Amino acid sequence: MSHTLKLARLLEVLRAGEALAADVALRQAQLARVNWMARALQKQAAQERGHAAMASAALTLTGMRRAQKSMDGVTAPLRARIEHDLETGNLAASLLGLQGVVEHLGEALLESMGRYEHPAGVILHALRVKVLAQERGHLLLGARCLQALASFGRDEEPELLDQYRALGRDAAIRVATLLDDARLDANVFWRNVDERLTHWQSPSCDRQVQTPNA
Ligand SMILES: [Fe+2]
Ligand SMILES: [Fe+2]
Repeated sequence: MSHTLKLARLLEVLRAGEALAADVALRQAQLARVNWMARALQKQAAQERGHAAMASAALTLTGMRRAQKSMDGVTAPLRARIEHDLETGNLAASLLGLQGVVEHLGEALLESMGRYEHPAGVILHALRVKVLAQERGHLLLGARCLQALASFGRDEEPELLDQYRALGRDAAIRVATLLDDARLDANVFWRNVDERLTHWQSPSCDRQVQTPNA
């Protein structure tokens, strides 16, 4: 398989992840019961649509748009889990999934792909700083929303987060294989993802750690 085809597959994973983020953020906005949260999540959804469009444009530059259907499976388990949480009205759990895990995965992938020497990689590199700044904003928004959702069950949260982390790591393993074949550093990507997912805790998990007797 050519390196360009591998890059196209990575771009499709990125595009699908951004499209997932756009869909989920919009549905989160519909579940939010306070105005500031709904507005901020709508804004995130619009930014994610922009990111998906950029990934799509980069994919077009590879000339291999049509060969990417096999990549659907990379994000499908995460999508299914987040959709389950949205359908049951569990906004907080979906925040762990999207703003906690998917965002970290996308950030690590975007950083790796920004180094790729290909016209598509150049576009991503040029836009990387702007997009990554927005992605960090989404991580902070997720943390702020979780803090505001006082009714979220504290006991179930660490387990839910672990489940999402496991799904995130599964997706990262599949992405790392493509990175290896595309001559990007799969080990660096994997360490990046693992580090981010291991050390990220939601604000309410942090409170549990800081106030064990509460
Ligand atoms: Fe994004
Ligand atoms: Fe994002």
